[in-house]
Amino acid sequence: MIRHETIEKILDVARIEEVIGDFVNLKKRGGNFIGNCPFHNEKTPSFAVSPAKGIYKCFGCGASGNVFGFIMQHEHLSYPEAVKHVASRYKIEVEEEKPSAAEMAQIDERESLMAVTSFAADWFQKQLFETEAGKAIGLSYFNEREFRTDIIRKFGLGYSPESRDALTRQAIENGYKLEYLEKTGLTIVRENFQVDRFRGRVVFPIHNVAGRVIGFGARILGSDKSIAKYLNSPESDIYHKSGVLYGLYQARKAIADQDNCCLVEGYTDVISLHQAGISNVVASSGTSLTTDQIRMIRRYTRHITILYDGDAAGIKASFRGIDMILAADMTVRIVLFPDGEDPDSYARKHHPDEVNRFISENARDFILFKTQLLLDEAAGDPIKRAALTGEMLESIALTPNAILRSEYLKECSRIMDVDEQTLTWELSKILRKNLKKSNEEAKSLPDASPIAKPQENEIQEVDRLLTHEENLIRVLLNYGHRYFEIKTTNDNNENIVDKYPVAEFIINDLDGEEYMFQSSVYQKMFDEIKEGLINGNLPNDRYFINHSDNEIRNISTNMAAEFHEISPRWETDKGMPTPTEGDKISLLVKETLLKLKLRKAENLRKEILQGFSQPNIQEEEILSLQTRLVQMNEFIQALKNELGLSSR
Ligand code: CTP
Ligand code: MN
Repeated sequence: MIRHETIEKILDVARIEEVIGDFVNLKKRGGNFIGNCPFHNEKTPSFAVSPAKGIYKCFGCGASGNVFGFIMQHEHLSYPEAVKHVASRYKIEVEEEKPSAAEMAQIDERESLMAVTSFAADWFQKQLFETEAGKAIGLSYFNEREFRTDIIRKFGLGYSPESRDALTRQAIENGYKLEYLEKTGLTIVRENFQVDRFRGRVVFPIHNVAGRVIGFGARILGSDKSIAKYLNSPESDIYHKSGVLYGLYQARKAIADQDNCCLVEGYTDVISLHQAGISNVVASSGTSLTTDQIRMIRRYTRHITILYDGDAAGIKASFRGIDMILAADMTVRIVLFPDGEDPDSYARKHHPDEVNRFISENARDFILFKTQLLLDEAAGDPIKRAALTGEMLESIALTPNAILRSEYLKECSRIMDVDEQTLTWELSKILRKNLKKSNEEAKSLPDASPIAKPQENEIQEVDRLLTHEENLIRVLLNYGHRYFEIKTTNDNNENIVDKYPVAEFIINDLDGEEYMFQSSVYQKMFDEIKEGLINGNLPNDRYFINHSDNEIRNISTNMAAEFHEISPRWETDKGMPTPTEGDKISLLVKETLLKLKLRKAENLRKEILQGFSQPNIQEEEILSLQTRLVQMNEFIQALKNELGLSSR
């Protein structure tokens, strides 16, 4: 474990723009840096690095994190590895904390389980290549399946001989404890005897991402229907079926390079595809994908291609599992193999070029695939067709990415021949319902979400600021042309009502404080609204929905669909007199502005606090920071008072 102080020290010294600058060509833009995002393909830069906040964020694909997060994501490293990488760039020595006695015992136990598993894997391989029985039975079985020797070695395949306890005896002779043989499931221990679990089978070792063997799958050699074709290691401290993807260790680099992960059913499919030169393949081994497995793939790519051997009925059963992948903001494509073929058998019968071509020609986006499949089923049945629309939209609504959602809507409207506007409206209803549901779930079950949430507090802070900026733009789009009333008294103590267009009020207010938007897109939209106001031609939401800028178009389309999210606080209060429309708008505008400023102020306050921990800070600077802090505290308190929030 890396000491907390060490991490603080690295964060103090390292400059995120330098670390990221090693990989991305960054240009200064105001206080930030921008460049082309290394995590998705783009021509116009939407990847921003904020030295002040020590974070990066891509406004295109949503990738974000701190300096360690970047290295983890870009170099596919674990957290400690990423910390060490950054430390070494700045010649900082990384001190590791000694684990406690209890942690030590846990580590020892896991190490012992890994050690005996690794011994067994070596021994199985030796049996396969170096014993007569292994060659005659195991190796000849693999040859029959046309597995090449280099591939057999790459996957560490082996053979467990037809003997009651050969492995168990060998292991014990080599000093491994029976306790660990039993816990890893290699040995079945009975009262008077022990048996090798995988005896008489060929063995497929299962590696973790670091390349250590943690379990096995073992297949019978023939086709005897009376015994289980495959036996797998039982769950243990080192082997959790739901958190393992077969082949990920061998495939991870190819997955990252090709930015796509093929998903197949089992061991033999992975191996045959590797042999055909397709090496970005993993298998979930029989079970449907778990959230852990999805998260593992997501470290390398956001695109999954499911190679599916089965009929329409079978694939329909897996729709729910696929929805989970969509909800993790990943895209899913489906390749259906011809009747009776699985990737393994297809790869065996065809030239590698043909296999490749088959996959690329037949890969179809899941949402569109599902639409087509259900549409075929509903042919000529209007009731089924109507139900299908709902089902489609449910899937689309799971995609957190607004840009993708609008693309899907467009395609679905084409395939189904339904007006896009109608679909947009229906989708917004589902989004609203889901939002409500997830809010309720979040209340009762903290952290039960299947999707990984950003860990770092700073990121959430920025995201929250973005939410407020988004709300403000939304108000501008929806109410910009309406009037904002200010009631004051004149010199003669008479009540007068001043009226401004909402847009003018907001723009004057923010301009007065030289507000800079965190998001470049919102800044762009804000500037255009300002320009329109000056020219007497205030742009409305229709203008932005049809904007030439892709990002603006998508964001405003999405806003139009999710308008519900902002509502003045008192709308939920009971027993208040029904406010007029004008009152509502005034309150909405004020509250949106105050919340935005409050969030921004809280962020600035954090920055001031961080200023105190600069190395070699001068007395003068400390004093100036203290003054600023006091001012900022007062400002925040004033905003809170205005919002009717009590101080913390
Ligand atoms: N599988 C499994 N447990 C089973 C059956 C299958 O884990 N009881 C997994 C294996 O990973 C296997 C994959 O599903 O590779 C495909 O199943 P299947 O085609 O039945 O296995 P093969 O070994 O390819 O058998 P065959 O030669 O009959 O195709
Ligand atoms: Mn098969």
